[in-house]
Amino acid sequence: MIARADFPADFLFGAATSAYQIEGHSFGGAGATIWDTFAAEPGKVANGETGALACDHYHHYEEDLDLLKGFDAYRFSTSWARVMPDGRTVNQAGLDFYDRLVDAILARGLKPFLTLYHWDMPAALGALGGWENRDVAGWFGDYTDVIMERIGDRVASVATINEPWCVSWLAHFLGHHAPGKTDISAAARAVHHVLLAHGEAMQRLRARGQANLGIVLNFEAVAPQGGPAAARFDAIMNRMFIEPLTKGGYPALVLEGLAPHLPEGWQHDMAQISAPLDWLGVNYYTRQTVAKDSGPWPACRFVQTDAAKTQMGWDIYPGGLAETLTMLTQDYVGDLPLFITENGMALAQSPQDPARSRYLFDHLAELKSAMAKGAKVQGYFYWSLLDNYEWAFGYEKRFGLVHVDFSTLERTPKDSLKTFKRWLAASPDAA
Ligand code: FCB
Repeated sequence: MIARADFPADFLFGAATSAYQIEGHSFGGAGATIWDTFAAEPGKVANGETGALACDHYHHYEEDLDLLKGFDAYRFSTSWARVMPDGRTVNQAGLDFYDRLVDAILARGLKPFLTLYHWDMPAALGALGGWENRDVAGWFGDYTDVIMERIGDRVASVATINEPWCVSWLAHFLGHHAPGKTDISAAARAVHHVLLAHGEAMQRLRARGQANLGIVLNFEAVAPQGGPAAARFDAIMNRMFIEPLTKGGYPALVLEGLAPHLPEGWQHDMAQISAPLDWLGVNYYTRQTVAKDSGPWPACRFVQTDAAKTQMGWDIYPGGLAETLTMLTQDYVGDLPLFITENGMALAQSPQDPARSRYLFDHLAELKSAMAKGAKVQGYFYWSLLDNYEWAFGYEKRFGLVHVDFSTLERTPKDSLKTFKRWLAASPDAA
């Protein structure tokens, strides 16, 4: 089996969470988010659940951070709507919380990896068009400045946006995430404006002298033999963001469907969008098998396979992590440092969860083999530290290394957490 000593001594291991999924958003002066609006629409979110209480991490953060003993780093996010409840006015209590949180992370010897946007846009900005409105770049830039002014001196790394594909495509074309649209032109505008907002935030961060700046993208392996439909899926899923970020233009297969819908003059934004990154975050969970569909562009659908599945129904395919890292290294990023910012599985069984430990180590083995082939990976974050609010699936899907009882808020470490920590602590000789 792969050992800690197989990775470089300075390789970082951590766990990840996000603000809206764990904090509890109904106190501390936080404003409503676009997820509160979305969950209020019947049928959009399992049981109409929201992040109102979630894990109540807002009040339990000390105890939660104690669970990370033995890790090197912690990936967390700040909530836009907690800090700017109406999108404009600053909520000092929200900033105070993140100030305490960062100090508590540092006090445990963990490196704070901050993500600025993990989907909690203030509902007030959603009402102004959200990601469809070009002004979002300036709104996001202002929020970036507000956060960095308060905690920028203590974070080890900053990601602008988590998973632009979900923020734009999943939310505006497939309709599964807030605001739940199924409209190609809304989706095209959102795609472009998410990138523009990233570019604006990067500019502000650079101007402040902030170091270690990146973005977090999600990728899915694509089974071979899917033909042109799979190629279109691959372009939208895996290339629609990294290509503009690193090469300053959208892939031809993306333009095939999006060109008529992109905001006029989009080409002029590309210089700002493709400003250099210091690192790229890679989220990887699964592989898709894709076939042609009779509907409108991109005319692709998913095919069920007999592969082993997680509680989400996602195929377990560790080899896809190495495939993704090799593709990124060869086609886009070269020597740019990479971090696996999310990887993990949902599982109903708890706290005995050997399948989760197997998922973890099988993916770490693939990660190591991609590094041997040249991928410059510097860290790995497991998703997630805690069972939490899994967006449209509510609280049923459990990704945590730690079980959370959502009625008593009791935390119980799962076997996978103990196994992971033992593995991290093993001396090179024990390997
Ligand atoms: C990713 C999200 C994260 C979580 C995992 C399972 O797409 O970034 O918040 O929902 O999936």
